[in-house]
Amino acid sequence: MSQPTLESILQENRLFPPPPAFAQQARITPERYEQLCREAERDPLGFWERLAREELHWFKPWQQVLQWDPPQAQWFVGGQLNLSYNCLDRHLENGRRHKTALIWEGEPGDIRTLTYEQLHQEVCRFANGLKALGIQTGDRVGIYMPMIPEAAMAMLACARIGAAHTVVFGGFSAEALKDRLRDAEAKAVITADGGWRKDAIVPLKPQVDLALAEGVPSVEKVLVVQRTGQAVEMTPGRDIWWHELAPTVSEDCPAQPMDAEAMLFILYTSGTTGKPKGVVHTTGGYNLYAHITCQWIFDLQEEDIYWCTADVGWITGHSYIVYGPLSNGATVFMYEGAPRPSKPDCFWELIARHRISIFYTAPTAIRAFMKSGDALPRQHDLSSLRLLGTVGEPINPEAWIWYHTVIGNERCPIVDTWWQTETGGIMISPLPGVTATKPGSATRPFPGIQADVVDLEGDPAPAGGYLVIRQPWPGMMRTVYKDPQRFRASYWEKIPPKDGQYFYFAGDGAHRDEDGYFWVMGRVDDVISVAGHRLGTMELESALVSHPAVAEAAVVGRPDELKGEAIVAFVILSDGQEGSESLRQELMQHVVTEIGAIARPSEIRFTDALPKTRSGKIMRRLLRNLAAGSGISGDTSTLEDRGVLERLRQEV
Ligand code: WTA
Repeated sequence: MSQPTLESILQENRLFPPPPAFAQQARITPERYEQLCREAERDPLGFWERLAREELHWFKPWQQVLQWDPPQAQWFVGGQLNLSYNCLDRHLENGRRHKTALIWEGEPGDIRTLTYEQLHQEVCRFANGLKALGIQTGDRVGIYMPMIPEAAMAMLACARIGAAHTVVFGGFSAEALKDRLRDAEAKAVITADGGWRKDAIVPLKPQVDLALAEGVPSVEKVLVVQRTGQAVEMTPGRDIWWHELAPTVSEDCPAQPMDAEAMLFILYTSGTTGKPKGVVHTTGGYNLYAHITCQWIFDLQEEDIYWCTADVGWITGHSYIVYGPLSNGATVFMYEGAPRPSKPDCFWELIARHRISIFYTAPTAIRAFMKSGDALPRQHDLSSLRLLGTVGEPINPEAWIWYHTVIGNERCPIVDTWWQTETGGIMISPLPGVTATKPGSATRPFPGIQADVVDLEGDPAPAGGYLVIRQPWPGMMRTVYKDPQRFRASYWEKIPPKDGQYFYFAGDGAHRDEDGYFWVMGRVDDVISVAGHRLGTMELESALVSHPAVAEAAVVGRPDELKGEAIVAFVILSDGQEGSESLRQELMQHVVTEIGAIARPSEIRFTDALPKTRSGKIMRRLLRNLAAGSGISGDTSTLEDRGVLERLRQEV
């Protein structure tokens, strides 16, 4: 193939049909796809019901597939199952007992491999450990862990006994951890002394201590896994080492049959207010949706070695490191660390060493690899790869083409998967044996998913509008924890229902092309995406104004070549404060302390005023223009004080 010109890279409009060799072997072939789409269209509930029956183990069948009392959905009402049973026990009987379930590599190079039988044993022990600490069905358990096998074991152990977990990303600060544990009223926290990341130990236990010192009255026990071995303080009566508890508990722990609608986990995500939302997922629908999307979209075959580079602290880690692949009996590879200056090519080395066949990562990572050149990946044998995926943000065609040529050697289909914490699983994505891909487009909805692009009245607006889902689906979130009103307002009332039709409002802008392909353009609300991580501008602003030197703050995203968006904060200082470089550094650090390192602003600009409307609303659009260094565009007639813009411009 000839080298594409710059023009063709910027405006990529080639079609990439599935490689014939891939399509022939694929789980879902074009013929099968047609059948599935017809089935889902003719009888949507029958479609999900058939899959639930054929793909999962149930202790008790359901009486009703869906009870839809908008926006409240209940799936497989009356049915009972256990997600950890579906991920573990059933594979002991279906020929996968000695199959490798988990291959893990730590950053220092230590490797662990667990068969399904061994993972089952470890999870049973862990579950009994939790019981020994007094955790019961219905309790909430915080998980604040590095990327080690025990993170997955802890999640599966909670699922096994019917305790809902809330995993908090290990990069979040003590402050952020405290907020989440408090909101979830967690009874226990599972953590580790620390984890390895970028050649350093990230201390986790001390962050838990800090979070609990501020008062999280519900937390009675802290279970600590030893990973890095540095000294940590243990509070007698509260803190227990896992390696001391483990030998005292049995390995026998039958999975607790759970109601299909029993809460499986809470995962906090950023929204448009200062307070993160506790997204609630339940057992049956989530299990089915994570399972079937993982199987079809990643074309899981028995011999695959599957690697999703996310952290278990995000939804991608929940659905596509732990629950989806294990429910399918796949071999999952898990890595503790991250590419780092001492090993910029560690991902390629890992792919070669472990013969990874399916690789799922984020556009922000691809852009970083692309920047460091083709030589590093070319030094490694990537011939085991057969399928590539991306998630988390739109992928620019240039990065897509690089991924396709340099990593996939033009052989591997790429699945660009659009979805959200709220959707539980992938909603729009190519099926790798079926869909001709277009770089930058997530292509088409998964069979059974009715996605659309509409205007605020709910009328189709394919040329550009809001991404919505028209029908309930099994993996959908059920509510915002303890805040059903916020659930309704954030997702179901942005576009008012009409004629009995409800619209799930995703918060993304999109358009559809002449082939019906979806192009997701990014958030339409005050959420920004920094290196694929969702952050609310209000959350960042509350963090800034909690510093005594700050009177007011406005945060916007600025386009960034690597991270997608970078955080720019406009800050008005309190009376008597001087805007110095040291204060700027102090404020950046303050945001890190309040939220975590992912939230560190790239730039803080001091100002004496913010552009506001006459009713006092900050005009973020203008701030975005300023942050991007572009001219002010659009209407400024509602601006209260036109001098503000001039002053802000001059300060740059
Ligand atoms: C964005 C991550 C374009 C989108 C699974 C969404 C994407 C938000 C894509 C959810 C994609 C995710 N193309 N944008 N393939 N995937 N997004 O909850 O803005 O962390 O609303 O879930 O990421 O982020 P979340």
